[in-house]
Amino acid sequence: IAAPVPPPNLSTKYCEAIPDEQSCENCCLPDLLKAPIDFKFEDLPMRIRKPAHILSKDEEYVKKYNQAYVLMKGLDPDDPRSFKAQWHIHCAFCMGAYFEPNNPNDIKLQYHYSWAFAPWHRMYLYFHERILGDLIGDKSFALPVWNWDNQQEGDGGNQMPWMFAPLNFGATPSELSNAIRNPEHFPPQVVRLDPCCYYEDMGIVYDSNLAFMHRAVVSSVSSTNFLGKPYRAGQTEDTNGPGSIEENGHNIIHSWTGSNYLKIHPNNSDMGTFLFTAKDPIFYSHHANVDRLWTVWKSLKIDPSTRRGSRKREDPTDSDFLDTQFAFYNHKKELVNVKISQTLHTDRLCYKYEALDSDQDWINY
Ligand code: C2O
Repeated sequence: IAAPVPPPNLSTKYCEAIPDEQSCENCCLPDLLKAPIDFKFEDLPMRIRKPAHILSKDEEYVKKYNQAYVLMKGLDPDDPRSFKAQWHIHCAFCMGAYFEPNNPNDIKLQYHYSWAFAPWHRMYLYFHERILGDLIGDKSFALPVWNWDNQQEGDGGNQMPWMFAPLNFGATPSELSNAIRNPEHFPPQVVRLDPCCYYEDMGIVYDSNLAFMHRAVVSSVSSTNFLGKPYRAGQTEDTNGPGSIEENGHNIIHSWTGSNYLKIHPNNSDMGTFLFTAKDPIFYSHHANVDRLWTVWKSLKIDPSTRRGSRKREDPTDSDFLDTQFAFYNHKKELVNVKISQTLHTDRLCYKYEALDSDQDWINY
């Protein structure tokens, strides 16, 4: 019988069984041994997430953001707000470190490859952003957004944002640049979203990126196509299916950014692998863009006279979607259970995205 997926129970872990041999890492999370609390909406100042390629020029912002990571990395690893616990959240729930509660068959929780992907990552960022803001004492702190869909020529969003590049802060690498990446993709290299072909002509690269974005977001009309197939209690990952929001730009940017180049970690780490991806701060900025694309998709104006068509893009209304729950740590070190139904409106979560005029380029392409 179909049912929503219950929230994890952090004392039923399997995580010891999936260590990374080279780094002796596993994905265990601090178990607080206290009952989780239920998520409640709060009245907070609106946090405005702005494009990283524009914020890169704002020294104050970059300093503050870097400082938040200095503080986060300085916390004890058993503190659920620590950087280690934060990136372990990704590997824990994406590499099967926890069993689905109440299921006798040892099914592991997995929030990729289905309609859970967008809401789970949304709330992951929500708590991460609030912890960063709390550490620097700034309630309006908002993550930068890596607008890789923006194809403005020269210094648009389609390059690794300068604040994450290793040359930032002169010769001293910052916490934002401290990650394993593909050095061949540092700025001013432009991302190539469509894996179909390699174009020499940059004009064609921009055009193909715009066309790719249009197909990935505007042409995916149904929620199954865009957000992914259902994920219900008792379901294993091979019966799910990713949506266009996950499969297209999202996956491509992960592997484009990561590297097996230095041979320190294999498998395209950090960004190109589930285990290490959230160890690179650019991960959260990349995912802010994925999250933004979900809001763009839902706000597409119906226009029967264009190829956009006359069907409104809407989230699933199935109760297995709405009542599925996740767990995250908040800035007060509490474990919080959140229902997907609480994740669907960014205004209730008190954040929004600053739109650029050039965001329209691929929507109308
Ligand atoms: Cu959890 Cu971008 O992947």
